Amino acid sequence: MGRVLVTGGKGFLGTHLVRRLLADGQEVRVFAHRGSKQGEASTDGKCEVQWGDIRHFSDVEQAVKGVEKVFHLISNFRKGGSDKADAYAVNVEGTQNVLNAAKKYGVGRVVHCSTIGVHGDVQAIPAHEETPFNPTDLYQETKLMAEQYVWKFHQETGLPISVVRPISLYGPEDLRMLKLFRTIKKRQFIYIGPGKVLFHPAYIDDVIEGFLLCASHEKAVGEAFIIGGDGYLPLHDLVDRIAAQLQVPAPSLHIPLRPVEWLAGLCESVCTPLGVEPPLHKRRVSFFKNNRAFSIEKVKRVLGYAPRVSLEEGLKRTIRWYEDHELL
Ligand SMILES: NC(=O)c1ccc[n+]([C@@H]2O[C@H](COP(=O)([O-])OP(=O)(O)OC[C@H]3O[C@@H](n4cnc5c(N)ncnc54)[C@H](OP(=O)(O)O)[C@@H]3O)[C@@H](O)[C@H]2O)c1
Repeated sequence: MGRVLVTGGKGFLGTHLVRRLLADGQEVRVFAHRGSKQGEASTDGKCEVQWGDIRHFSDVEQAVKGVEKVFHLISNFRKGGSDKADAYAVNVEGTQNVLNAAKKYGVGRVVHCSTIGVHGDVQAIPAHEETPFNPTDLYQETKLMAEQYVWKFHQETGLPISVVRPISLYGPEDLRMLKLFRTIKKRQFIYIGPGKVLFHPAYIDDVIEGFLLCASHEKAVGEAFIIGGDGYLPLHDLVDRIAAQLQVPAPSLHIPLRPVEWLAGLCESVCTPLGVEPPLHKRRVSFFKNNRAFSIEKVKRVLGYAPRVSLEEGLKRTIRWYEDHELL
C-alpha cells in the first residue's frame, strides 16, 4: 500500500491508528493542528506530519496530495458545547475539504469516521445501520450532515468511500472516559437518574481493526458500518465492574435526571452567546439518559470483523494505563 493519510492522527483514535499502521509497515502522514499534543511521544519522528487546519482547503490539499488512502478522523469531538459555526466548519466543511482534495488527487480509498451518535437517542434496540437518524445535539447533528455529504459525494463522483460509525470508545490514552474511572476511584461518582440506561463499550484496538478492514475490503466501499464491542450492558453494571477492578465499593448515590437536564440546558443557553464552554451541557447528561445499544452484525457478516478484547480485559488495560500515568 502507498502512503496513508490520517487526519486527526494526534487525537485518541488517530494515535492508535497511526501506531498500528506504522507497526504494519505503512508509510503514514498525519494531518494535525499545531499544538496537538496527544500521542506525540509514541508516533513523532516515525511519520510525516502535515500541520494545518481542516477548515482550510489549501492545508488539506497539501496533506492529501500523494497519498493512496485517507482516514478522516478530525472532528471537534472534545468540545461538548455549542459553538455552532465551529462545529459546522470542522465537521462538515472539513469533511468537504477532505473529499474535494481526495477527488482532485485521485485518492484510492477514503474511510470517513462518523459516529453512532448520528442515530442519537436510540428507541428500538439494538440499533443498526438502517435505524433512523435521530441526532440530539450539535455534535451529532453536524456529524450527520458530514455523513450525508459523504454519501452524496460518493454517488456523484464515484470516489471510493467507506463510513465507520464507532461505538463509544475506551482504552489506554483516552481522556474522555477517564472522568468516569476517576470519580469512581475517588468514590465521588453519582448517578444522574436510575443508571439503567444501556451503554455499549468499544475497546480501541478492536475498533482499529474495523477501520483497517474498511480501508482494504472491496465490499466496504459505499457502505456504513457500526463498529465496536460485542455487547452492551446497563450503566450500573459497567460502573460496578469498574469499581470492582479499582477495588472500591460500587457507587450507589443517585440524583434525579430532570433537574440536571434542565440545568444543563440553562448552562448552554447562558454560556453559548458568551462564547464560553458550558461547565455542564446536554451531551454530558445524555450519557445517563440515552440508550447506546448497537448491533455489529453487519460488519461481522460483510467484512469478517471480530472483536477480540473482552470488557474485563479492556477495563484492566485501561486502568493499568491510567495508573502507570498517574491519572488515577
Ligand atoms: N471517542 C469516541 O468515543 C468516539 C465515538 C464515535 C466517534 N468518534 C469519532 O472518532 C473521531 C476521533 O475521535 P477521538 O476520540 O480521537 O477525538 P480527539 O482525540 O478529539 O481527536 C480529534 C482530533 O481532531 C483534531 N482537530 C479538531 N479540530 C481540528 C481542526 N480544525 N484542524 C485540524 N485538526 C483538528 C483535534 O486536535 P486538537 O486536539 O488539537 O483540537 C484532535 O487531535 C472523531 O471523528 C469522532 O467524531 C469518537
